[in-house]
Amino acid sequence: MRITIAGAGYVGLVAGTCYASTGNTVVLADTDAGRIAVLQDGKLPIYEPGLGELLAENIRTGRISFTTDLAGACRDAEIIGIAVGTPSKSDGSADLSYVDAVAETIGKNIKDYCVVVTKSTVPIGTCRRLEQTVRKHTDVPFDYVSNPEFLKEGSAVSDFLSPERVIIGATSERARKIMAHIYAPFMRQGRRILFMDPLSAELTKYACNAMLATRISFMNEIARLAETVNADVQQVRMGMGSDSRIGKSFLFPGLGYGGSCFPKDVKALVYTGNKHGVNMGVVAAADTANESQPVVLFNKIKKYFNGDLEGKKFAVWGLAFKPKTDDMREAPSVKLIRSLLAAGVSAAAHDPEAHETAKAVLGDSITYHENVYEPLTDADGLIICTEWMEFRTPDFRRMAELLRRGVIFDGRNLYDPDYVNEAGIDYLCIGRGDAIVNRDRQ
Ligand SMILES: NC(=O)c1ccc[n+]([C@@H]2O[C@H](COP(=O)([O-])OP(=O)(O)OC[C@H]3O[C@@H](n4cnc5c(N)ncnc54)[C@H](O)[C@@H]3O)[C@@H](O)[C@H]2O)c1
Repeated sequence: MRITIAGAGYVGLVAGTCYASTGNTVVLADTDAGRIAVLQDGKLPIYEPGLGELLAENIRTGRISFTTDLAGACRDAEIIGIAVGTPSKSDGSADLSYVDAVAETIGKNIKDYCVVVTKSTVPIGTCRRLEQTVRKHTDVPFDYVSNPEFLKEGSAVSDFLSPERVIIGATSERARKIMAHIYAPFMRQGRRILFMDPLSAELTKYACNAMLATRISFMNEIARLAETVNADVQQVRMGMGSDSRIGKSFLFPGLGYGGSCFPKDVKALVYTGNKHGVNMGVVAAADTANESQPVVLFNKIKKYFNGDLEGKKFAVWGLAFKPKTDDMREAPSVKLIRSLLAAGVSAAAHDPEAHETAKAVLGDSITYHENVYEPLTDADGLIICTEWMEFRTPDFRRMAELLRRGVIFDGRNLYDPDYVNEAGIDYLCIGRGDAIVNRDRQ
């Protein structure tokens, strides 16, 4: 089929590449001319494992192309996807100006029946708003479908190619059939498409993100309690996760959730509840707990140095909001680093992929190092913000030699405290009590 997607970001680029890989002809349209130029050059504007190879193959076969001319790309399309951003406004509501603009362009330019599909995460009721916007500008028949996206950055390609399920909110049988057709190649192993009405599809997406975010905030709260009562949250997590009613995922305490989805979607759901007079107390509490979570590690660092952080230098491992991505949107590392800088600290960081994106946020307020051990030289400690695989079994003896003060503040609970202590390094983490062997050096 001929598919046009508005927005060549994480979602549009992955979805477009995956649709192309099953034989569809895909045009990705984006207002960001720089991004389109990078893609036309055969390069990736983002880091996403496995995407580069798949994209290169689809460019080579001519199944995918890139343009800034969304209007032109709408004229011939059988399916038009909307995958533009829906960022938070200052009141917590979702900024719909990008999806509105795309709907208007679609309405003004379609020439024949097509299916308009929203993949962006949009507040409940946006389906009606966008359908009306398209309708206002055209008499051409079209169907509107809500198809929220559930891919995870870091495993987006495999998530898209092998989805656990696909949610399709549609009222027209014709549109349902078309959507079933384009997803059929990803459903061959019996995975399911769940058809529902568009309003329910929109709410399903928010409900999923809010549930996962709530699990994380819940575990962070349990971690605070575990630490206070001398329990080990790692053991508690294993005990909880082995209960099949609860499951193992999204129970890791840490610096709190970040990224382009959970923080904004949780806030938007609370806003929607308030707007309709429904108290979203559980979800609001998840948000409040998350806002304060990076402070937990900051306070530990401050306490370890008896309140005096002025002039200290820290190594930081990991900047991206999670591993296997270069996405810095709402990364907890930023909040923590900014608090440290405000306290008179300097920081030297290493992230396997996020230096460029981090520079856009933190500029030259910190230094960036390609070598993982380099930032440790003469540092007063190491702070771990992202659980990249390559940080999991480092050379602790080498670290002890490089660090001026042997201490690790681990916001991701990566290590066995005894093992770290054996190298002469103090180890402070989340919800497990502090393992300190260097008391005399404090
Ligand atoms: N990133 C994720 O992991 C993820 C997962 C599921 C759902 N979502 C949702 O998908 C949507 C997109 O997220 P993203 O992370 O891909 O965003 P993104 O910021 O990476 O990409 C959005 C792109 O849309 C482009 N754009 C803006 N206005 C445009 C217009 N009028 N026409 C064409 N292009 C335009 C921007 O230039 C940008 O390149 C959001 O609603 C998000 O909540 C994201």
